Amino acid sequence: MSFSQELEATARALVAPHKGILAADESAPTIKKRFDSIGVASTEDNRRFYREMLFTTQGCEEFISGVILFDETIRQGASDGTPLPKLLENKGIIPGIKVDQGAKPLAGSDGEKVTEGLDGLRDRVAEYRALGARFAKWRAVISIGEGQPSDYCLATNAHALARYAALCVEGGLVPIVEPEILMDGTHTIETSYEATQRTLHAVFHELALQRVPLEQILLKPNMVLSGYECPRQASVPEVAEHTIHCFRRVVPAAVPGVVFLSGGQSDEAATAHLNAMNRIGGFPWELSFSYGRALQHPALQAWAGKAGNAPAAQQAFYHRAKLNGAARTGSYSEAMEKAA
Ligand code: 13P
Repeated sequence: MSFSQELEATARALVAPHKGILAADESAPTIKKRFDSIGVASTEDNRRFYREMLFTTQGCEEFISGVILFDETIRQGASDGTPLPKLLENKGIIPGIKVDQGAKPLAGSDGEKVTEGLDGLRDRVAEYRALGARFAKWRAVISIGEGQPSDYCLATNAHALARYAALCVEGGLVPIVEPEILMDGTHTIETSYEATQRTLHAVFHELALQRVPLEQILLKPNMVLSGYECPRQASVPEVAEHTIHCFRRVVPAAVPGVVFLSGGQSDEAATAHLNAMNRIGGFPWELSFSYGRALQHPALQAWAGKAGNAPAAQQAFYHRAKLNGAARTGSYSEAMEKAA
């Protein structure tokens, strides 16, 4: 049996008008880092409580099409015992799953990384589908530096991303293909443009070689941005223009949607950039979001580990989701930040 029609429909549903994806798939060390920032212990119960709180936010499904889960979360039940993927499905939200096993040192390189997790992936895809997942994510991590990213790093990561994507398509999960170029460093927006173009070129070359049907995937890239420590920070219109100019060159029109990661941008910047791109318009793909930090940050702060703060945290999450929903049509404005 082929899943092709289902996968194409799922990919399109994930980038439906006004909607985007919540990345809630932080690995154990990453969620610990987030909880440390608010002084909360990263216990299994706290993780469950926090994620259930986000998922049960009333009305969030107006702006959230799908949620990426971590292995632990897809197996957890809500306080009333409903499995968390089922709880999402009941709200019309599509459950997804992170299937990579993290970025590890790339042998023989000068500190570059390659993402692992291909061994046994066919069986894990089948298991996750049985648990309710309908899409997946694999993140490759690429840094900019002296002579970096190397062709070696790009080729190995692109190869792994394509192998992952092919296995997902075979097993009935929409693969989100995520090559993330980190913002760390002093590089300019022009350097980010070059690195992003090279990366996406390598990724789509491998996807073609490995016969991945582009209608059934989503691309999750970085935006083209100045490095954190670059003395000249590009403006919002510059980011929007550079990103679209770059993607027009290297992202085939068959891809239904581009769902950006936020990658350490402030909540407001991530929304403003997406909004500015959608205002330009005229491109063949949906441009949406698959944010982790930029969707969760205000909710995490409002929660601060106290059950009594859950309504305020849910309100903060709903507000951020709504603003990003507005950015899908270029109708976000800074004034909306203030309105509760
Ligand atoms: P951020 O939006 O916090 O970068 O997270 C998105 C994500 O899923 C990274 O893999």
